[in-house]
Amino acid sequence: MVITLSGDLGAGKTTLVRGVLRGLDITGPVKSPTYTLVEPYTVSSLYLYHFDFYRLGEPEEWEEAGFREYFRDDAICLIEWPERAGSLLPPADLHIVLEVVEDGRRCTVTVKRERADACLAALAPLGPVKR
Ligand SMILES: Nc1ncnc2c1ncn2[C@@H]1O[C@H](COP(=O)(O)OP(=O)(O)OP(=O)(O)O)[C@@H](O)[C@H]1O
Ligand SMILES: [Mg+2]
Repeated sequence: MVITLSGDLGAGKTTLVRGVLRGLDITGPVKSPTYTLVEPYTVSSLYLYHFDFYRLGEPEEWEEAGFREYFRDDAICLIEWPERAGSLLPPADLHIVLEVVEDGRRCTVTVKRERADACLAALAPLGPVKR
């Protein structure tokens, strides 16, 4: 599964990923991959990769770094600054946009591929769902 996260600097992308990881019972440090570009985790029998492409110089760089092989069937990829990798990135299943609203955040989740439709049901208790 590929989940892209967009929003300005400080919009809360890393904080949301940290929350997802805590929700999956990952208790160790969750660092921002600002300099490493990727931080790997394991969740049950799945791999979870947290990317931050803010510091990519060129869109091709993520591919040259060998990151394409992280996008496997047994992996969940959460990607901050997907715009920096451009159209080379595998298509997202879910796209999340974060906006600063007063002292909180507005989170808009869009299903980009049908196979992610089941996620909508899980998110429904959190707010309005449009189909
Ligand atoms: N939902 C929230 N409500 C209030 N504050 C938040 C929320 N989410 C994040 N913050 C705060 O906003 C700041 C920036 O958050 P974070 O590092 O997650 O942003 P980011 O989108 O990952 O930024 P960057 O683009 O630099 O990676 C942090 O101080 C964090 O505590
Ligand atoms: Mg971040």
